[in-house]
Amino acid sequence: MAHTLSFLAFTLFFILFASSPPAIAEPAQYSVQSYGAKPDGTTDSTKAFLSAWDQVCGSTAPASLYVPSGKFSLGKATFQGPCKNSAIVVTIDGTLVAPSDYSSIGDENNWIIFEDVDGVTVSGGILDGQGTGLWSCKASGKSCPEGVTSLEFSNSNNIEINGLASQDSQKFHIVINSCQNVIVQNVKVSAASNSQTPMVFTLNHHRVTILNSKIGTGDDCVSVGPGTANLWVENVACGPGHGISIGSLGKKLEEDGVQNVTVKTTTFTGTEMESGVKISDVTYQDIHGSSATEVGMKLDCSTKYPCTGLNWRM
Ligand SMILES: *[C@@H]1O[C@H](CO)[C@@H](O)[C@H](O)[C@H]1NC(C)=O
Repeated sequence: MAHTLSFLAFTLFFILFASSPPAIAEPAQYSVQSYGAKPDGTTDSTKAFLSAWDQVCGSTAPASLYVPSGKFSLGKATFQGPCKNSAIVVTIDGTLVAPSDYSSIGDENNWIIFEDVDGVTVSGGILDGQGTGLWSCKASGKSCPEGVTSLEFSNSNNIEINGLASQDSQKFHIVINSCQNVIVQNVKVSAASNSQTPMVFTLNHHRVTILNSKIGTGDDCVSVGPGTANLWVENVACGPGHGISIGSLGKKLEEDGVQNVTVKTTTFTGTEMESGVKISDVTYQDIHGSSATEVGMKLDCSTKYPCTGLNWRM
């Protein structure tokens, strides 16, 4: 309604003052439907999304990509930068559905990926990775594709993901890879409890904040990868799954360490703690709760590189 009104107002304004264009323009909005996307859940809308993205990314003024309500079937989609503006909003009212045949994109690593962008906000939306078929394939011991990450930002800065829901991803739900200044908030991640691989976030870089989110998968809620620094996790409901893991680290001989991770006001339900390597200078503060097993918390330090500088505070 508000949209219609402002559009009417804008139209009226434009008709009345057509000779002198308005000084403050609304960000140009490109709806995927204008480029042929169909909200019927089956028509492959990948090309329409990418054509709309070309306009948004090529715009020299702030621009928005709009996905109306309904279900849009999307194959592998790479939203490539760099763009000509750094105020892009992707507003999703509908659901994006991965191809039902997982083998069509299962070896592509990613389903939806933004690369080399600056100043992009993804607001709202549901991502349905349709992972259940792939998990059954994996559970049966057959040879199956690796599966794809539902949403990744790679080599990007000033990113916000707000109000997104991700369900049944084939692999990771959200990956933040080599990015600076990322805020993830009001995100809801869920997967059927038989999902084995889906993890939530691996984070490989600087200043990432995860706020007010609910993460329930069969695996890590937040998985902190090499090179992560200044990560802030606050007000997150985590479980069922493994909990928050720093790692897997130490896969390669020389890799960047993890620094300055803060986890605050986060509840864990149905989780377990995993092992880590060479842990030093960690402060555990104000942790309370009950455990379903005799050991509530286990510090699984490496025997070769024992933990040092662990502080416990009430
Ligand atoms: C640690 O990270 C937080 C943000 O998560 C930041 O505000 C703080 O300045 C960082 N501390 C250091 C010592 O870098």
